[in-house]
Amino acid sequence: MLDTGSVPMIGNFVRESLDLHLFFARIMREHAIFMQAGFLAKDVTYVQQAEQFKCQYDEILKEALMLSDCTASEQVLQSEELVTDKTLRAEQKTQELTGIPIDRALTAEEVRLNPDLGTIPAEIEPQVRALNQKSMLITTSFAEFKAMVLDRVTHCCLACNLFPLQFEHVYREALFYLKVLKRLQNNQFVDSRVDLLEQEIFWDEIMGEHAKFVRHLLDPSERALCHKAKELAKSFERLEQKMKGEGLPASSFGRLMHENISATLLIAEFKATGTELILACQVKSKLSPLMTDHTLREANYYLRVLQTWNPGYLGRG
Ligand SMILES: [Fe+2]
Ligand SMILES: [Fe+2]
Repeated sequence: MLDTGSVPMIGNFVRESLDLHLFFARIMREHAIFMQAGFLAKDVTYVQQAEQFKCQYDEILKEALMLSDCTASEQVLQSEELVTDKTLRAEQKTQELTGIPIDRALTAEEVRLNPDLGTIPAEIEPQVRALNQKSMLITTSFAEFKAMVLDRVTHCCLACNLFPLQFEHVYREALFYLKVLKRLQNNQFVDSRVDLLEQEIFWDEIMGEHAKFVRHLLDPSERALCHKAKELAKSFERLEQKMKGEGLPASSFGRLMHENISATLLIAEFKATGTELILACQVKSKLSPLMTDHTLREANYYLRVLQTWNPGYLGRG
């Protein structure tokens, strides 16, 4: 039987695990959708494998949602990292254009989630631990699939409408999800889980790559947007270099964090505007609205992480 002293720790474990799945299982299912849409029709087995991963992450998301009502953190729900006001429309349009079915009921359910009321039942801890384990298995094989596809594409044995760097990018995101899951399963929470500097270096690179992908997927005639994307990519490259600098003094660390917050707010705004423009068919590009909304949610996730260490800086709840 559980003693009362262990309940807050179990609450943290449950909340952090479920918050993580609500964000990352959706991110992974979308990687599967982007891959499925990117393969050529003749590469049936690749299309089918991507479809299977999409369905497996639907299941993870479904289970996480079932366990999540009244466990999700208020900050997570307010951050718009799980769903934005564009996600449902982006899913509908992307399904229409690609013919790939996207379970929007899960999204609608995620919109309706209630925050943690301080009453997380300790009994769900084994179910959450099992869900973490299940997701680790699926994510390990999804990461292997992404690495295998990247290898085939870079050796010119497979054609796909995604850049090799996009495969590398989604592979790194899968490894990040796995790393946090492993730490949670070993009962390492918040502060020790992934240190902030490590997260900033990781997400700065991710944000910079999003800007590069957008720039290369925009029609060349969209000069103003291409220019903006190029500037954003450069600013994250500079930040990443500074963050990786040897022996960063504590004073620069705080200043750089504020620079990271400003740059991430800018790119989030760019992605939000871009998603609305694509949804309104007002921009020429090879981007899907789900892809830009996906990158917006990743920016919102990063902003929430930064905000955790700088309460009040963003003026969000
Ligand atoms: Fe992603
Ligand atoms: Fe990404």
